Amino acid sequence: MAMNEKILSVAPMLDWTDRHCRHFLRLICPSCVLFTEMLTTNALLLGRDPQRFLEYSAAEHPLILQVGGDDPEAMRRVSWLAREYQYDGINLNVGCPSPRVQKGSFGACLMATPEHVAELMAALADSGLAISIKHRLGLDREENYAALQQFVDRVAQSGCRHFIVHARNAWLKGLNPAENREIPPLRWDWVQHLKQDFPHLQIEINGGFKTPATVLEQYPYVDGVMIGRAAYHNPLLLAEVEMAMGRRAQLPERGQILEGLMTYAESWGEALPAPRLSRHLHGLYYGVAGAGEWRRFLGTAVLNESAADFLRRALQQFA
Ligand SMILES: Cc1cc2nc3c(=O)[nH]c(=O)nc-3n(C[C@H](O)[C@H](O)[C@H](O)COP(=O)(O)O)c2cc1C
Repeated sequence: MAMNEKILSVAPMLDWTDRHCRHFLRLICPSCVLFTEMLTTNALLLGRDPQRFLEYSAAEHPLILQVGGDDPEAMRRVSWLAREYQYDGINLNVGCPSPRVQKGSFGACLMATPEHVAELMAALADSGLAISIKHRLGLDREENYAALQQFVDRVAQSGCRHFIVHARNAWLKGLNPAENREIPPLRWDWVQHLKQDFPHLQIEINGGFKTPATVLEQYPYVDGVMIGRAAYHNPLLLAEVEMAMGRRAQLPERGQILEGLMTYAESWGEALPAPRLSRHLHGLYYGVAGAGEWRRFLGTAVLNESAADFLRRALQQFA
């Protein structure tokens, strides 16, 4: 696969990658695939206001809806919703280890039941949208490549062709979700092996990528790299990766990004209070002079000011 076909994506992150955050990231990185936060089938089908979770701005494309759940019929109905809202694809979360998600018997614990996952994937495919799965290497302390291989093999029989692998196990007991993103060891080589074993599948790697160099090193071996926390804390990293991939000639100016955000915020008017946008902007000056001043400025965002007025102040001071 040529470099221009390789996938760069930003991981789904609950509470972080909401639509405002995604719009900001899109201004920085035109080519990456964006994901919604995980939305449960219950929230989408039974919640009072599913529209609030499903709506997005056209600039966010390509955008994938990530869902969590364990009921095939609910998945089928969600896949229709995703088509109605013109998402570019649907992704099933088989990686989240939180106790709340375990109680609902979905997320990472589904790694133990590949048959059931295959059924869920087949249901998601009902709408005809592209489907993918985001999963772990395994569960708890069992490090077993053969079991992972069997998992992928079984799920692929459902018609799923795209596997995004968070390259560590999920420990269902004893670690909280944040610890579950640090403590079980990363095994990037296992994901590369999957690509060798399943050359016809799209295999995307996730977990621990923080620099353009480490991302670029993966591309000869896998089809895509997904970046999570580092993209949130240092969003310009995405543009740096695009540049290293040969997709752009220079990095975007921070002032231009703020101008782009201003246009977005103006389209919302008073309906977008400053803190709902400013909370995602901490990383704009990551690692450069002025970072402290920027963060202090973000601290001045208040609910009774619109994001547009806030950005007007930001542009006066920073552009
Ligand atoms: C705040 C936060 C929320 C997350 N929420 C989700 C989620 O909704 N769905 C999901 O599949 N993974 C979720 N994750 C996991 C990330 O998608 C990703 O797999 C993980 O952070 C490892 O990648 P990284 O090392 O690049 O951050 C979340 C991670 C963080 C930090």
